[in-house]
Amino acid sequence: MKLTIVEDYQWLSVVGAQMVAEQVRRQPGSVLGLATGGTPVGMYAELVRMYKEQGLDFSQVITFNLDEYVGLASSDPASYNWYMWHHLFSHINIPLENVHLPNGIAVPVQDECRCYEQAITRAGGIDLQVLGIGSNGHIGFNEPGTPFESETQVICLTEETRRANARYFPDGNVPTHAISMGIKSILKAKRILLLAGGPDKAAAIEQALEGPVTVELPASVLQLHPDVTVVVDTAAAAGLTKAGSEKPTHQAAG
Ligand code: F6R
Repeated sequence: MKLTIVEDYQWLSVVGAQMVAEQVRRQPGSVLGLATGGTPVGMYAELVRMYKEQGLDFSQVITFNLDEYVGLASSDPASYNWYMWHHLFSHINIPLENVHLPNGIAVPVQDECRCYEQAITRAGGIDLQVLGIGSNGHIGFNEPGTPFESETQVICLTEETRRANARYFPDGNVPTHAISMGIKSILKAKRILLLAGGPDKAAAIEQALEGPVTVELPASVLQLHPDVTVVVDTAAAAGLTKAGSEKPTHQAAG
């Protein structure tokens, strides 16, 4: 695992975007696995800036998002589909047909999960998977206890996760279930980029990087993957004892 500690959220976003951009420049037809949530918003803004100012070309890129809420249509502003168009896809030159998210209103949902997993395989697998992490250590929506062998499936969200995401649901009706790539689906990616910022993520980052590999802390499974880059800000890195003396590699000037 490669660990990069940056000073703050702005650097987290810039360093994350640089890694995605480097992947896209090296392999224009890259298959990217993408995350939603608060963490990658700044990274997507930086990628949009790179597209507009530097001509970063997404015309051959293929994307698969990690997850979507069950019961939300893509037109729902709280859906991850809507989020992705709002923060990234509408602002870059990625063709509509290259973009994939699980369909939250598909019936039967099990068929959607199977087809989604097959579509990733058909596309040649994910070259770079971007991940955030829940404060309970979840990756995708794979909550503690999810078997490492799991592929795309329906997950029952924990109360903690629903509370953490309640800010996106003004009516308070956070869905109870989500479709999520499984742990095995995530581990199949050739490279993984895990981003985490803020003190709420410190305990999960410490356990994921330095604790035992256990289904109780899903992100700990990343220790078993051969090519993982973790980019954290100093607040999220606060619990890391092995990296305790490291200085942030990217700091604001002055
Ligand atoms: C989102 C996802 C989740 C989030 C995690 C952190 O697609 O799969 O694992 O990455 O819940 O969310 P934020 O970034 O909002 O703290």
